[in-house]
Order: sequence, then C-alpha cells, then structure tokens
Amino acid sequence: MKVCVVGTGYVGLVAGTCFSECGNDVIGVDVDERKLALLRQGKSPIYEPGLEELLRRNQKEGRLSFSNDLAAAVKASLFCFIAVGTPESANGAADLSAVLGVAETIGCALDGYRIIVNKSTVPVGTADRVRQAVAAVTSQPFDVVSNPEFLKEGAAIDDFMKPDRVVIGSDSARATDLMRVFYEPTARTENPILVMDNRSAEMTKYAANALLATRISFMNEVANLCERVGADVNLVRRGVGSDRRIGQHFLFPGIGYGGSCFPKDVKAMIHTAEEYGLDSAMLRAVDAVNDRQKHVLVHKAKAIFGESLRGRTFAIWGLSFKPRTDDMREAPSLTVVEGLLKAGAKVQVHDPEALTEARRNFGDRVSYHAINYDALEGADALLILTEWNEFRRPDFARMKKLLKQPVIIDGRNVYEPDDMQEIGFLYHSIGRAPVAES
Ligand SMILES: NC(=O)c1ccc[n+]([C@@H]2O[C@H](COP(=O)([O-])OP(=O)(O)OC[C@H]3O[C@@H](n4cnc5c(N)ncnc54)[C@H](O)[C@@H]3O)[C@@H](O)[C@H]2O)c1
Repeated sequence: MKVCVVGTGYVGLVAGTCFSECGNDVIGVDVDERKLALLRQGKSPIYEPGLEELLRRNQKEGRLSFSNDLAAAVKASLFCFIAVGTPESANGAADLSAVLGVAETIGCALDGYRIIVNKSTVPVGTADRVRQAVAAVTSQPFDVVSNPEFLKEGAAIDDFMKPDRVVIGSDSARATDLMRVFYEPTARTENPILVMDNRSAEMTKYAANALLATRISFMNEVANLCERVGADVNLVRRGVGSDRRIGQHFLFPGIGYGGSCFPKDVKAMIHTAEEYGLDSAMLRAVDAVNDRQKHVLVHKAKAIFGESLRGRTFAIWGLSFKPRTDDMREAPSLTVVEGLLKAGAKVQVHDPEALTEARRNFGDRVSYHAINYDALEGADALLILTEWNEFRRPDFARMKKLLKQPVIIDGRNVYEPDDMQEIGFLYHSIGRAPVAES
C-alpha cells in the first residue's frame, strides 16, 4: 500500500520504517532539513536499537524515501499518517498547531479519497478538529482515523512489529476495513485490533499513559515511606506484584518518570478534565509526586555531604530518561544535574548514548566522558540515574580507586545493599535502608 508518514521523529520514523518493512511503499515527510539529510544517507537521527538497519534495508530496496514535499507525498499515498509532535503548551494543554497545520496542507493536496490517520497523541475531540480543518479546504472525500501509538522508546521496533494491540478509532466502515488490512502483518498473533469510535481511541492513549504514570508515582511514594519505616521496597514490590490483579510490571521505584510522553500526557489529561468542568485530583497528585521525586537524589547527596556542595564533585552514570535511548526530554537527569550545579558542585557525566543530547542541555557546565570509569576520577560520589545494562556489573575495585570516597547514590536500585556493604561502599538507594561499608 502507498503511505506517507508526516513527522520523522521517534514515532513517525519507527512507524514509517516498520510499514516499509511490511512491504508498503512509504514516504517519510518532515520539515527538519537536517533530519532529512541524515535519513537520506541511511542514518538515523535518533538512537533506537535495530532502527538504522531496517532503515537502510528498506531504503535500498526502494520502499522507503524521505521528502519535505508534503503535498506530493499526499498525492502519492492512500494513507496519510500524522506523527508530528504535540508538545505541552503554557497552560498544560497539548499544542495542536503542528497537527492542524499538517491536516490543512493534506486537505489542500487531496485529489481523491484518502485516509488521514492521526498517530500523534492528541486530546479527545482532535479527530473532529482535523476533519473540520481538512473539510474547510477541500471537497474531496476523506476519512479521519485515530490510531494512537503505544511503542516504548528503547524497544520501539519490537513494540511496533508485535504490538499488544492496535487501536483504530473510526466512524467509517470503509476506512476501518482498509486499516484492518493495512495492520494485518503486525497483528498476526492473537494480539487484537480494537476498533472503536475516534473519541474512545483518543482517550485510550491518555488513560493508558496516565495509569502507567500513576503506578510509578504510587511506587515512588511507597518507596519513600519504606525508607522512613524501615521496610525494603524491593521486597514490598514483589509481594504486591505477585497479586495477579496487580502484576509485576511498572512497579519499579526510582527518581521519577520523564520522556516526551508521560509528563505532558498527564498534564494534558488534567487540562482536558478542567475544560469539561472536572478536577483530576488523582492525576494532579501523580504529577506533583513525580516532580518531587526528581529531587530525591540531590536531597540524599546533601544529607551525606551537607547543604552546600561547593568543592564537591559528583559523577553521573546515565542521562537518558530510560535505557536504550538517547532521548533526554524531561529526563530526571536534567533536574538532578541542575540541582547539583546550583548547590555549587562540579559534575562529570557519562551516558552510553545521550552525550550529544546532554551537551545541548548542559553546554560547558559539566564534563563529558565517553567511558563510564573516566567520569569517576576524583569524584566524591557516583550517582546512577539511568539503569543501562552496562552499569549492572561494573569493576567495583576499579571504581573504588577512582572515586575520592566509596559512595554510590543509586536512583534505580541497580545493586543489592548487602553486596555493596561487603564490597565496602556507602550505598544509598530508593526505598531501602542505606548501608555503610562493614
Ligand atoms: N516518543 C514516544 O515514545 C511516543 C510514543 C507514543 C506516542 N507518541 C506521540 O507521538 C507524537 C510524536 O512524538 P515523537 O516523540 O515522535 O516526536 P518528535 O519530536 O521526535 O518528532 C516529531 C517530528 O515531527 C516533525 N514535524 C513537526 N512539524 C511538522 C510539520 N508541519 N510537517 C512535517 N513534520 C513536522 C519534527 O521535525 C519532528 O521530526 C507525539 O504526539 C507523542 O506524544 C510518542
């Protein structure tokens, strides 16, 4: 099938590449010429495991190309996917200017029936607004489908090719049938294609993200309480998650959720509730707990070294908002590094993939280290902010030699306190009692 995907970011690029991998002819459209130049050379502008290989193969085989000409791409496609950003605006609402702008351009380019598919995360009612924007500029036939995306960065290709479910929001039998056929290759297993109305599809995406964010904030609150009452959150987590009604997923405490989705989607849902005269008390709490949690590691550092961190040096391992991505949007590392700098500390950072992104955020205010051990040299403590696999079994003896003092403040509970005590570290983690060297 002929497809264009507008927006070649984390969602659009993965979607477009995977659609072409299924045999479709795909044009990825973007306004960012830097991105387009990289993509045309077969280079992925983002780090996402497995993406570049698929990108190159499908480009070579002529199924995937990139363009800045949206009108031409629309004329060549039956499906027009919109996957542009919907960032938070000043009042917390999702900013729909890119989505509606693209919709209008698509409308102007129509020369026959098209299915306009909204893959961006958009508030309830957006499909109607897209319909209006397109209908205002064309008399050609079209349908608007809501098809929210549930991929996880770091596992995006797998999520896309083998989704838990595909949600199709549509009020047109014609569009629904074509969407079903289109998604058949990725829904071969028993994973369902769920067909519903546009509003329910739009709401499903927000409700899913809000529930996941709620689990994280809930466990972070439990973890903080565990520290006070002398319980071990890891044991509590297992005990709670063994209940099949609850399950083990998404119960890991840490230093708050980040990324381009949860923070803005929680705020957008709060805003939607307000627009409809409701107060989303629960999601306001989820959001507030998360903001607070991002400061927990700096509080721990101050509890150990004193309120002023002047003259102290901290090593940071992990800057991306989660492992296997270079995405630092809303990452807790931004709050932690700024908190340390504000308290007068020197900061030496390492991340396996996010150093380029980090430079954009911190400039020359921190030092950057491509090798994790190099960041430790002369530091008073190591702070772990992202649970990259390569941090799980480090050379502790080497670390001890490099650090000025054997102190680790672990925001992701990567190590076992007993082991750390035995190896001789002062070890602080989340929701578990700190241990000092024995
Ligand atoms: N990142 C995720 O994990 C994820 C998961 C599910 C859903 N989403 C949602 O998908 C949407 C896109 O997210 P993302 O992370 O891919 O964003 P992104 O910022 O990585 O990518 C958006 C892309 O759209 C391009 N763009 C903006 N305006 C354009 C226009 N007028 N014409 C063509 N291209 C344009 C930008 O240049 C950019 O390349 C958002 O609504 C987001 O909430 C994201």
